[in-house]
Amino acid sequence: MKKELEFPQGFLWGSACSSYQVEGGIENCNWSEKFPAGKACDYWNRYEEYFDVAEKLNQNVHRLSLEWSRIEPEEGKFDREAIEHYKKMLKSLKKRKIKTMVTLWHSTNPMWLSEKGGWANFKTPGYFQNYVAFAVKELNPYVDFWLTINELMISCSHPYLIGKFPPQKKLDFIGCAQAVFNFGQAHKKAYKVIKSIAPTAKVGMAENYSFVEAYDKESPFNNVVVSVWNFVRNQMLLEYTKKEQDFLGVNYYFHEKIRTEKRFPFIGVQNDNKKISDLGVEIYPSALYEVIKDMKKYNLPIYITENGIADRGDKYREAFIKEHLKVIHKAIKEGADVRGYLYWSLLDNFEWADGYGPRFGLVEMDYENMTYKIRPSAYKYAEICKGNKLIL
Ligand code: BGC
Repeated sequence: MKKELEFPQGFLWGSACSSYQVEGGIENCNWSEKFPAGKACDYWNRYEEYFDVAEKLNQNVHRLSLEWSRIEPEEGKFDREAIEHYKKMLKSLKKRKIKTMVTLWHSTNPMWLSEKGGWANFKTPGYFQNYVAFAVKELNPYVDFWLTINELMISCSHPYLIGKFPPQKKLDFIGCAQAVFNFGQAHKKAYKVIKSIAPTAKVGMAENYSFVEAYDKESPFNNVVVSVWNFVRNQMLLEYTKKEQDFLGVNYYFHEKIRTEKRFPFIGVQNDNKKISDLGVEIYPSALYEVIKDMKKYNLPIYITENGIADRGDKYREAFIKEHLKVIHKAIKEGADVRGYLYWSLLDNFEWADGYGPRFGLVEMDYENMTYKIRPSAYKYAEICKGNKLIL
């Protein structure tokens, strides 16, 4: 028997991307030297085509990010052409009646900022504030939602502890702590400056949240470690910024079953990994329900700002989307104020240190010929977007 899960009226359906991962031609940021993205999807020039695709797929919201290194290529020097270009992009979405969600910082720093120590520098929140003021003054009329920072905690752990993102430091706990502090400050400053320019603007941040559970539920030590980890991983930032968020942006990809070990680093993630993506990431939709449930106490609207899977063969994507939507719907039915879902990503794109291998797109890119093809799962998602309901 068919079952229909209706979403609230006005629910937003769309997809997300970020500048460095799709635009192409970005050569002046902290990734450009070691991890050049080259032409990427050439979104900078071909955005109209891609927005046509989003429209055709019945999406009514699109998330993109501004590239700081284009807008402020040298400290204090703002590039008119770049900002006008973004204005054109946003207008083009508006013309299609697609709402715009704009991230001000998605993992890339202008070169000049990195030379000054990037996010470990206590002056960086001030630099960020100047850039935000310029961008918001110019673009606010075309922006429905501002996201200040994408995945703050990961943007500290990957560059300073794990060494996966530039500046690729390992176990630099001081650098990491400085970055956490500075990002937090940057968000608060940005929130204030956006509100001073546009008091009714909707401002939030997109954070990677995970449901954390103990591997050995019987072990008191394992449970204590999980509580501490959960606080650091999911709650600390929310508690610190909750007064400066008009909505919560949730990026959800995986859950974490935490195992305690006797040797350094004392904790590890050990998921069951029954079903995994091309990147080896466990597919675990039910934990998104737990993440949303935990957030109810903040009484803020929630947008799923990212949720996606690396699945080159498009074997799991349709089910992945549907399974996640099922638990979102359940949470809504139980009172959670979830107002939108943005799949990551519209296009296959540059997956940071993993390069062009992983394929997250609703649209498959052929980078050699710079052509693209809409994947079957994208049409299935489009039906959901159109009907505002999930038919099971
Ligand atoms: C990031 C994206 C990334 C995606 C898939 C998110 O954590 O915001 O930039 O491509 O995950 O790994």
